[in-house]
Amino acid sequence: MGLFQRKVQQEQEFPPLRHIAIIMDGNGRWAKKRGLPRTAGHAAGAESFRRIANYCRTLGVRYLTVYAFSTENWKRSQEEVGGIMTLLRKYLEEALRDMEKNKVHFCFFGDLSRLSPDLQELCRDAESRSRDYEVQVNFCLNYGGRDEIVRAARLFAQEVAEGKRQPEELDEAIFSQYLYSADIPDPELIIRPSGEERISNFLLWQSAYSEYVFMDVLWPDFGPKDLDEAIAQFHRRNRRFGGAK
Ligand code: IPE
Ligand code: IPE
Ligand code: MG
Repeated sequence: MGLFQRKVQQEQEFPPLRHIAIIMDGNGRWAKKRGLPRTAGHAAGAESFRRIANYCRTLGVRYLTVYAFSTENWKRSQEEVGGIMTLLRKYLEEALRDMEKNKVHFCFFGDLSRLSPDLQELCRDAESRSRDYEVQVNFCLNYGGRDEIVRAARLFAQEVAEGKRQPEELDEAIFSQYLYSADIPDPELIIRPSGEERISNFLLWQSAYSEYVFMDVLWPDFGPKDLDEAIAQFHRRNRRFGGAK
């Protein structure tokens, strides 16, 4: 079945999901299986991302959040980290060039200040030049769920110290506004390929009621069919949100 037919079939049954998040894991193992350097796995992973981002757009998914580099990933060799940053630079340059064709709003979740100044500038450019597009891709770069929550608490405390806020005002809705994901609905579905079944510090706050789908495929091999399968699993779940139905 072609992409278009699959889209039609899915639309007939269910409306598109609003927000899908993906932990893009398994690049290293993909490369190892082929006797290639880990960086080759990341390059293949970047291709997989391009394919899946396009497919999400055909499906009508408004928000796609992808975990590209965690606050813990700095532990890796300089060679690997450098390779990932080079791929990121290449991707952003390309995205800036094709901005009008792709029509995607790029957002970045994470503490970008640890990235090189040229990369920070590319991120800022991509974000500001795409801000009018409706479909949004959130790249998590030097992102950690705990780091995001601590940062939000610090921002709120700062406003209290400045007399702009009262501690009693703080509730879940207000706290959410200090997160990178302010104004974005929580993901209904979070997918982790690669066979690992853990969160690894991804969207800790936002995933309170997300459905998790863990899949055995490595990220560079993950294709539209796998996304269809994850969405199909999502639709078979009974989401209760603490209620009793
Ligand atoms: C995910 O793939 C990409 C990043 C964490 C940057 P990995 O590099 O973690 O791949 P595995 O888990 O070692 O196979
Ligand atoms: C999570 O994968 C981070 C990204 C995919 C960017 P990791 O490979 O870093 O997670 P662990 O180490 O297996 O938990
Ligand atoms: Mg991994």
